[in-house]
Amino acid sequence: MGQKIRVLNMKEVKQILSMSDVLGLVERAFKERGLKHVQMPPKSYLFSQKFGGDLRVMPAYLKELDEIGVKLVSVYPGNPSKYGLPTVLATIVLFDPETGAPISYMDGTCITAMRTAAASGVAVKYLARKDARVLGMIGAGYQSVFQLDAINKVMKIESVKIFDLIEKEAENLAVLARKKFGLNARVVTTAEDAVRSSDVLVTVTPTRTPVVKREWVTEGMHINAVGADAPGKEELEAGILKRARIVIDDWEQASHSGEINVPVSKGMITKASIYAEIGEIVAGAKPGRVSADEITMFDTTGLAIQDIITAWRVYEMAEEKGIGREFEPLYCEP
Ligand SMILES: NC(=O)c1ccc[n+]([C@@H]2O[C@H](COP(=O)([O-])OP(=O)(O)OC[C@H]3O[C@@H](n4cnc5c(N)ncnc54)[C@H](O)[C@@H]3O)[C@@H](O)[C@H]2O)c1
Repeated sequence: MGQKIRVLNMKEVKQILSMSDVLGLVERAFKERGLKHVQMPPKSYLFSQKFGGDLRVMPAYLKELDEIGVKLVSVYPGNPSKYGLPTVLATIVLFDPETGAPISYMDGTCITAMRTAAASGVAVKYLARKDARVLGMIGAGYQSVFQLDAINKVMKIESVKIFDLIEKEAENLAVLARKKFGLNARVVTTAEDAVRSSDVLVTVTPTRTPVVKREWVTEGMHINAVGADAPGKEELEAGILKRARIVIDDWEQASHSGEINVPVSKGMITKASIYAEIGEIVAGAKPGRVSADEITMFDTTGLAIQDIITAWRVYEMAEEKGIGREFEPLYCEP
């Protein structure tokens, strides 16, 4: 009968993955994309106005690696306060590339957070100044600690400033930053404080009203705009994009739902305003940062290839170490 299916829960996935691994995997996924070795239709969305969330379907095939799968992910910003659940919840299904048979169902919540953070890490590696030392963070929710973990692995952080609308969240993240990563982290009480004189800025909120003002951003800064991943979401004033070298992960996704989606819909930004896809930079087709005083901005929407390459590593390691459970699927007899 069919191949066995390995099932992994969030704890098991987390036990297998390290951020260093995910940084390498995401960089490889971007490179494969830059070399045009992947199939990845843009993610498709279902919106629930009644409950204030959305469900996305994200398929990908990395052809050189023979890795194929789909992520199903929902984003419900009311979850943490209403139900104590994460805003972002995901499941990943992997398939045997030869037969199309499903071979693994695994939780994708942790993978989503880790690969999102790893994308930020890769962007910092290629786009931030080498002497960047001060990190500003706006948004201290579920994703933020993963962001810190990844960026800490690619940047010599001397200090971190954290701002969140909910001060307690910012305090919790500062405590984690100190305890887990030994970082010099402090809470600031305005978004402006988090931005001014930071070398690298990460925005990771679900806001629809830009929280970063043009005049706070100075030459030489690199910004990872992470939070905007659905139509109407926007964290940076459009004037910042006008001043910055803009790098995206994918035009279809970014113009539909990334940081640039609102300015694109208003005609303030066009495809011609974009410098590169991150994959082109990682694959060596275009240089990353070219001068110390330019402002760079990475608009990351999250690519299915990041999830699928990471999930395959989890699957292979789980097979090797016997982690998770296996079951034999029973296919319907004709
Ligand atoms: N780009 C990607 O690949 C990707 C991946 C995962 C999540 N996301 C997005 O990142 C965002 C954050 O996700 P999360 O799971 O951390 O959510 P979360 O709900 O756990 O945390 C969001 C935090 O942002 C804070 N916040 C909201 N508005 C703010 C504002 N104007 N100023 C300062 N702080 C503000 C909230 O108080 C909260 O602490 C969401 O929009 C999510 O959809 C993007």
